[in-house]
Amino acid sequence: MGKYSQVANLIKEKGNVIAFTGAGISVESGIPAFRGAQGLWEKYDPEEYAHINSFVSEPAKIWCMLREMIKLTFDAHPSPAHLALGALEKAGFLKAVITQNVDGLHQEAGNTNIIEYHGNMRNLVCLKCRKKIPLKQEVLTAMPYPTCDRCNKAMKPDGVFFGEQIPISAIEAAHEAVENCKIIMIIGTSGVVYPAAEVPFQAASRGAAVVEINVNPTPFTSAVTQYFLEGSASQVLPRIIDELGLKLSDAQP
Ligand code: APR
Repeated sequence: MGKYSQVANLIKEKGNVIAFTGAGISVESGIPAFRGAQGLWEKYDPEEYAHINSFVSEPAKIWCMLREMIKLTFDAHPSPAHLALGALEKAGFLKAVITQNVDGLHQEAGNTNIIEYHGNMRNLVCLKCRKKIPLKQEVLTAMPYPTCDRCNKAMKPDGVFFGEQIPISAIEAAHEAVENCKIIMIIGTSGVVYPAAEVPFQAASRGAAVVEINVNPTPFTSAVTQYFLEGSASQVLPRIIDELGLKLSDAQP
């Protein structure tokens, strides 16, 4: 039996799958991953540009990068990999998506229980008074950056920057999803950013079967992965869906 049918059988037998996703799942949507220097990140080092201290000290500089990133996100559509996860939820197998991505594409692909470990780009937040406003297209023309109408301070997208806390609600929801799952699918993440990278280890230590999809091996691969499906998420996931007799169009955006 091939690996794809093995994984499909495992999903049929055990049910209760959770997905743990990273930037690799959105590459086919046109949003470059952070590591591996391509596109946007050849110009901007994410470790520097996505650090909260850089934002606080030089908001105009960081907003140059943010405008480009926000534009890419506005223009992006769910990839076949996102749609496959939508179809997997609709069929009752997938119970939660724990994502490190801030692009909102899992929502667009019809998933409903999405735990945004690193926040999202739907809102802007004022770091002083915590006021939130929706992040809309107009933000791209606010120069040198959008400001809070109460404090006149630079507003920041509600994604988690390096040096910021993970939202407690996300930690709790991820914990509950991990407690209940029988299979974790690790998709398109390098697994080097903590505490997010603890999630697959927690699932594995609770006895979940571990499936990993990536174009390259990661620190998870030799440590916890039982089924490594090498390749692009947008090629691998539709094959699994196919083995299960499901269709990408089953996703309900
Ligand atoms: N299909 C599957 N995997 C892919 C694909 C693809 N088409 N393209 C790239 N990958 C893999 C890469 O091999 C790599 O392992 O996706 C992973 C992307 O890794 P990163 O760029 O490090 O992204 P991620 O793991 O999501 O980063 C974690 O770091 O910069 C911070 O907060 C940011 O949430 C982000 C966190």
